[in-house]
Amino acid sequence: MRIDILTLFPQMFQGPFSSSILKRAVEQGLVSINIHNIRDYTHDKHHTVDDYAYGGGGGMVLKPGPIFEAVEAIKSEASPDRVTDMSSIILLTPQGRLFSQQIADELSRGSWLVLICGHYEGVDERVREHLVTDEISIGDYVLTGGELAAMVVVDAVVRLLPGVLGSEASPLDDSHVTGLLEYPQYTRPAAYRGWAVPQVLLSGNHAQIIKWRREQAIWRTLKRRPELLDKADLSLEERQLVARLSASNQTGTTFDQVPQQLTSDKRPS
Ligand code: 6GU
Repeated sequence: MRIDILTLFPQMFQGPFSSSILKRAVEQGLVSINIHNIRDYTHDKHHTVDDYAYGGGGGMVLKPGPIFEAVEAIKSEASPDRVTDMSSIILLTPQGRLFSQQIADELSRGSWLVLICGHYEGVDERVREHLVTDEISIGDYVLTGGELAAMVVVDAVVRLLPGVLGSEASPLDDSHVTGLLEYPQYTRPAAYRGWAVPQVLLSGNHAQIIKWRREQAIWRTLKRRPELLDKADLSLEERQLVARLSASNQTGTTFDQVPQQLTSDKRPS
């Protein structure tokens, strides 16, 4: 996959793409990430990228020219098959569609992403109307610019590319793929400061462990993100468990407390 990012702050991208899994993906040639400074596509001596809004009201608006020219320059340097296959030109903006695992999955199937980071009060509407194919927001809060959002999108997409994660960490098991949040995980020591790891995990009984993890995932999802359960892939039995758990008076349970019904959580005393 090829990713091109247009930004007024290229230096912001130094860290995230040169560490850990993203770094390795780039080194392995699974993805190439190119950062472009929008300011390089201006023609005046002050390299002006923004201007006052027509109609007044204060606040600056990013001019269309440098953004159009940057995208056109990227297109003309890229191989022709990439251009015909021209996947997505995405504007990062709080007005975009809400980013999700499903959108990450969608984008990971393309071969080329162009991400445009908006800034200041906004971007000239003609960029939206005549250049971009998609607009994405990463959540209902306002950032100073699209850069951090672009990094989030790149991270979520690149880890889905074939070969990026080791085979043991399958993205198919992720929260939001299964529709459930993940079950609690433990590693050694078996007792830490007197806090024991649930007995079932030490039992060696694989069937019991699978059952426990599944119940924990369902319980955790019910407590933290109940709306996710509507779309989760649950068996009839599991739906009944959810119904029982929801119906029973759980007002006394805290965020992470496990109810009596999930008896396999018994710990050694
Ligand atoms: Cl994509 N941009 C900005 N500026 N703020 C945001 C956002 C994007 N997504 C959530 N908040």
